[in-house]
Amino acid sequence: MAKLRVGILISGRGSNMAALIDAARAPDYPAEVACVISNVATAAGLERARKAGVPTTVTPHKAFPDRESFDRAVAAELEKHDVDLVALAGFMRIQSPWFAERWKDRMLNIHPSLLPAFPGLRVQQQAIDAGVRISGCTVHFVTPDLDAGPIVAQAAVPVLPDDTAETLAQRILRQEHRLYPQVVRWYAEGRISLRHGRVTVENTPTLLFSSDP
Ligand code: GRF
Repeated sequence: MAKLRVGILISGRGSNMAALIDAARAPDYPAEVACVISNVATAAGLERARKAGVPTTVTPHKAFPDRESFDRAVAAELEKHDVDLVALAGFMRIQSPWFAERWKDRMLNIHPSLLPAFPGLRVQQQAIDAGVRISGCTVHFVTPDLDAGPIVAQAAVPVLPDDTAETLAQRILRQEHRLYPQVVRWYAEGRISLRHGRVTVENTPTLLFSSDP
């Protein structure tokens, strides 16, 4: 059966992108990474993608007069690579309503908190400042509202008393690298249903717990 073609959008390090590329190396993984697009020419993830033999493109947002014209250029690139599913992975641009509609129900994002708690930026520091004892990461469908689309799955980690934003980020990141490839697998297997803004995944627990605090 043809594999699902995933286009990954990045702006930086690209460790989630690398986790998806690595997962897709397994012959029985039902998705392949069709392309990686970055809005930042110096994103470290680009080099990792190139080394893995994945086609990469830089589409600098600054070269476009407005958000939608940038988004249209990104969409054209995704179409060129016959992408079925868009995976945002540390992509630091907010999507225009046009782009969100274009990829409605076919675009995922990973966010390093248990949404709807702590959307936006500096989320690990937000979690520490709030004194929560548990945090984690969320994979969700992307809608025009930032970090607010239907939740597909979450992974939970403890927040320890001496955590800094960095130590917490590392703990969460390890779970991100497990969770994102799993969700993309479920999507490729057609096991994710989205009804009235709520997601169910056939026969699968969609909450993971970290075993490595
Ligand atoms: C991750 O923590 C992800 O959840 C957030 O941005 C970070 C990207 O890291 N959206 P990387 O580029 O995947 O290493």
